[in-house]
Amino acid sequence: STAQARLRALPKAEVHLHLEGCFEATLLAQWAALEQRSLPRPVETLFQFSGLSEFLEFLDLACGLAATPQRLADLSYGLCQRLAADGTGYADVIVNPTHWHAWHGRLPAMLDAMDAGFSAAEQDGLPPVGLCISLLRTQSAEAATELVEQLTTLRHPRVVALSVDGNEATAGRTGPRFAEAFRRAAAAGLRRTVHAGESSGPEGVWDAVNLLGADRIDHGVRAIEDPALVELLAARRIPLGICPTSNLVLGVYPSIAAHPIERLRQAGVAVSLNTDDPALLGASLVGEYQLCANAFGWSDAVVRDVARTSIEASFAPAQTRARLL
Ligand code: ADE
Ligand code: ZN
Repeated sequence: STAQARLRALPKAEVHLHLEGCFEATLLAQWAALEQRSLPRPVETLFQFSGLSEFLEFLDLACGLAATPQRLADLSYGLCQRLAADGTGYADVIVNPTHWHAWHGRLPAMLDAMDAGFSAAEQDGLPPVGLCISLLRTQSAEAATELVEQLTTLRHPRVVALSVDGNEATAGRTGPRFAEAFRRAAAAGLRRTVHAGESSGPEGVWDAVNLLGADRIDHGVRAIEDPALVELLAARRIPLGICPTSNLVLGVYPSIAAHPIERLRQAGVAVSLNTDDPALLGASLVGEYQLCANAFGWSDAVVRDVARTSIEASFAPAQTRARLL
């Protein structure tokens, strides 16, 4: 439709997108057959999840099948094709090494394999990406600082940020545990982005700001439950990487009407739209804009403003931002 074509042409970035969320079901079935491993469900219903915990378990299985450099490069290239299909000009891409079992202890090789796919994509005119390397909530403080040490020693040019994701409901309060790792990351020039206010309430978002120095919050939607926090996010202009379809599919909110993105936006919070795990959750970026524009009656000016926020919220290099803005 023309509305779709206009949203596709809109200059925008994506700031909350996991490489782990970009597997195609048919490709996973092929890899499983090659590895003589079985999948939990037939390919037609492979991407059906009861909630975040089951979803995260599935990531371990899917990533475990991506055991060769070629598979990682292909997956990375495919992510960039997805970006191009949505008319996205740049993406911050989250990669959580914990999920990639075949690559444990080989972080440099894993990053090089992904980088090969992203570089090939860029050479073919597809959008550029930066990597946000993510801690899993359940990791220890020692494992967290060790990952940061590796990143700061390696200084891989593709890596732009430290991240944390996973289930906040099962891991307890992670702000204090990861504070030292995030402090070291910032000192080494890495940006900081933190999943919070999805499986945790506002307290997770407070910790992300106060203890982890988050430049951006991934999800952050449950900040709406604390007016003082909403005020702080707006005043400090700490952007949120919001993923409405993900929140609906994983059961954070029962309907788009109940989703707080519009209340956050009207309170002056910098909100961006994102797909989180597009292949696994059945989301596209143009679809997220359509969903919200329809549900909340967004004018063209509001849509443009949200898209602009996504570019400003991104960790894209200055020349990429300038090109998109
Ligand atoms: N890893 C991938 N997607 C995630 C999400 N929505 N929340 C937490 N961890 C994730
Ligand atoms: Zn996420």
